[in-house]
Amino acid sequence: MTKPYVVAVFNQKGGISKTTTSTNLAVCLAAYGKSVVVIDLDSQADSTKSLGVDSKLRQGVFDLFINRIPVGEVIQPTPFEGVRVIPSTYNLAGIELKLSELQNSQRTLSAILATAELDCDYVVIDCPPALGILPLNALAAANAVIIPVTATPYANDGLLRTLPSIKYVQEGLNKGLLLQGVLFTIHDRDKTARRIADLIRARLGGTVYRSQIPRDTMVIEAATAALPVCIYAPRSAAGLAHLDFTAEFLHRHATTAAKSAEMLSLPASREAALDRLLAWRDKVAAAAAPAAGVRDRKDRLDRLLYGDRSRLERWHLALIHFFIDNRLGLALLVLAMLASAAILVGAGLQGLRHLWDGASIGAF
Ligand SMILES: Nc1ncnc2c1ncn2[C@@H]1O[C@H](COP(=O)(O)OP(=O)(O)OP(=O)(O)O)[C@@H](O)[C@H]1O
Ligand SMILES: [Mg+2]
Repeated sequence: MTKPYVVAVFNQKGGISKTTTSTNLAVCLAAYGKSVVVIDLDSQADSTKSLGVDSKLRQGVFDLFINRIPVGEVIQPTPFEGVRVIPSTYNLAGIELKLSELQNSQRTLSAILATAELDCDYVVIDCPPALGILPLNALAAANAVIIPVTATPYANDGLLRTLPSIKYVQEGLNKGLLLQGVLFTIHDRDKTARRIADLIRARLGGTVYRSQIPRDTMVIEAATAALPVCIYAPRSAAGLAHLDFTAEFLHRHATTAAKSAEMLSLPASREAALDRLLAWRDKVAAAAAPAAGVRDRKDRLDRLLYGDRSRLERWHLALIHFFIDNRLGLALLVLAMLASAAILVGAGLQGLRHLWDGASIGAF
């Protein structure tokens, strides 16, 4: 059985679209006819949830790494044919401490993948932000790394910290690690974004992928429905961009494989892949249907913010948040309450006075 091509999606900066890139790359690879296993190394379990797998499962990455449970027992199917997940579970947050007690802990994942029979073409590893022991495990086990980056000044700082970390791994832990590419994500078309993107392209040349993923509200809507955007809205700007990026990823892999004289099949047609994504969207139609109207959209965003609470509880929380966010509103509420209290007390006093006057007239 041939070994899968292992790709880590890594950037030390948070919120830069690592999870979005990992999950959409996985479903698009499957749409192009490849089989994929996603390893969710982030205790936030975003890619686990986004691929329709319950993050409250009892076994996942932690058990694979620490309790040496066989891969076959932790791997989970997803609704998308060809995609499976090794999920993140609630206990993953404590793994750093446990791993630091092990010898050669940075190579734990490499050792697991060397013996596991995953029976797939690609492994995509969603890394947590920062350079902890888990991302080091991912980089040590990977054939290639993809760095998602947004063209903003702070994101550029993230890239400047991430590149030396990759070099550090290439010089020691994993000499074969290939920086397959840098992917612009959440990409704006304004002047600043363009200038920063040009600077990065000038510095990194062909390392930057031609495809770039535009900022698209559909990605956020897809997250509220716990789905990759390529499933939620395959024809959206971000959905199509992810599909094109995956084709570019596959071509780059084919080029490097050709250099090492391996045979790799190039992706099937884009139309066929899109049809497959549309079929999966229909399969998960209830959750995948884009929000019908403003009310539906608001309801989904509320659900994202407040979880599965009843509508009344969500309104209550929204009211509290409104007053926390708007001190003026809070001041007005307090004033209105004081005014109502004063009116009530005034009316009470007046009533008492009438009673008193009535009693005095009665006494005469
Ligand atoms: N192309 C896009 N357009 C608009 N929003 C996007 C896009 N890509 C990602 N996002 C949003 O940006 C946020 C961060 O994305 P994501 O969770 O993928 O980042 P991350 O790097 O995995 O974060 P973390 O470091 O916390 O793991 C999410 O709310 C996601 O929905
Ligand atoms: Mg993430």
